[in-house]
Amino acid sequence: MLGNFTYHNPTRLHFGKESLDYLKEELKNYGKKVLLTYGGGSIKKNGIYDNVVAILKEAGKEIIELSGVPANPTVEKLYEGAALARENEVDLILAVGGGSVIDYSKGVSVSAYCKEDAWTKYYLQQQEPDKDLKIIPVGCVLTMVGTGSEMNGGSVITNHSQKLKIGKVFGSNVMPKFTILNPTYTFSVPQYQMVAGFFDIMSHIMEQYFSNTDDNTTDYIAEGLMRSLINSSLVAVKNPQDYEARSNIMWTATWALNTLLKMGKSGDWEVHMIGQAIGAVTNATHGMTLACVSIPYYKYIMKDGLDKFVRFAKNVWNVKEDNKSKEDIAKEGLCCLENWMKEIGAVLHSKELGLTMENIDDVVKGSFILNGGYRTLTPEEIKQILIESM
Ligand code: NZQ
Ligand code: ZN
Repeated sequence: MLGNFTYHNPTRLHFGKESLDYLKEELKNYGKKVLLTYGGGSIKKNGIYDNVVAILKEAGKEIIELSGVPANPTVEKLYEGAALARENEVDLILAVGGGSVIDYSKGVSVSAYCKEDAWTKYYLQQQEPDKDLKIIPVGCVLTMVGTGSEMNGGSVITNHSQKLKIGKVFGSNVMPKFTILNPTYTFSVPQYQMVAGFFDIMSHIMEQYFSNTDDNTTDYIAEGLMRSLINSSLVAVKNPQDYEARSNIMWTATWALNTLLKMGKSGDWEVHMIGQAIGAVTNATHGMTLACVSIPYYKYIMKDGLDKFVRFAKNVWNVKEDNKSKEDIAKEGLCCLENWMKEIGAVLHSKELGLTMENIDDVVKGSFILNGGYRTLTPEEIKQILIESM
């Protein structure tokens, strides 16, 4: 395993159909004022809002509401939330929603009392919060599965005027203090969003799996998670109400990006960099931006990490060795990945998301180049992959 590391994850998880019952217990740990953050209103339609508000009231909390957090939360909304949290001196931010609401809430938690411009400091310059900064604790009720935001320090914010979508991975002091994971809450997620979430999970695992060449325990865990996801996703797309499938996927999503799989690994993350750049320009759904670039990207770098792609084919997709060349086995693995993507309904062409030859250069410009994977791309290579993805 690579390097030295410390493993610590402070987020307490409450899982299952009755897991919201634990919210009352958790609330005892915080003061009276709760900033309740949520998105465009899905939680009002499916009843989660009423249940959460009832528990907050029963616990004697004063609720300050912050609704309308958009999918792919924006910097303008971040400033609004930071001001509201500061003016009301809130004791807890309770995020009820998907990755966008949770990412946003973490952003607000470190921006409320920040003396500098939060976008510039945390996202553009990737600085850490000051040592003495007051960070508002965040708790979550997850309603949409995919990002892993419920148990990590990630916070992705979009600045449309700068055509940038940037993620900052904060430390354990910003990670959610607790998360309620009730798989039945995900039943009302529209099919397109559900599938985008499934691919996001797969991508998180692959981004970490396709790096390094050692015999790392983490890779065996990753293979198990991918097999479970593939299995359950095929059930869930046919029957979204299948509790076993949806609960497996919820649990897999959390472990896919809660820092476990990055232990002893460098991680690649180039698919996310390109996907986020597409998102910044088109505002497309995160998981689908990853889906459309993944096959062209992996085909492009396959030869640079050939042994790992062979292992992926054999251990994740059961491709048989027979007398095939390594390259043929690796290609067959990617073919299986593509077939699974088609079967679940992932978007395979970026032009469907709004990528055009007119905006492609903005996407190339917004794609940060990382060097943890099997090949460090040039901007020209990113453009080529984007053209392939159309
Ligand atoms: O806004 P509402 O009305 O709630 O509707 C949402 C939203 O339109 C809807 N939804 C959520 N739960 C629902 C539901 N609809 C019906 N029933 C429910 N139970 O789903 C839509 C999408 O929600 P969103 O939170 O945007 O999706 P997701 O969880 O995929 O989050 C995407 C954001 O997370 C970032 C992405 O870049 C993107 O901005 N990411 C965060 C990461 C992290 N923290 O580590 C890593 C990821 O790679 C990702 O970048
Ligand atoms: Zn993602």
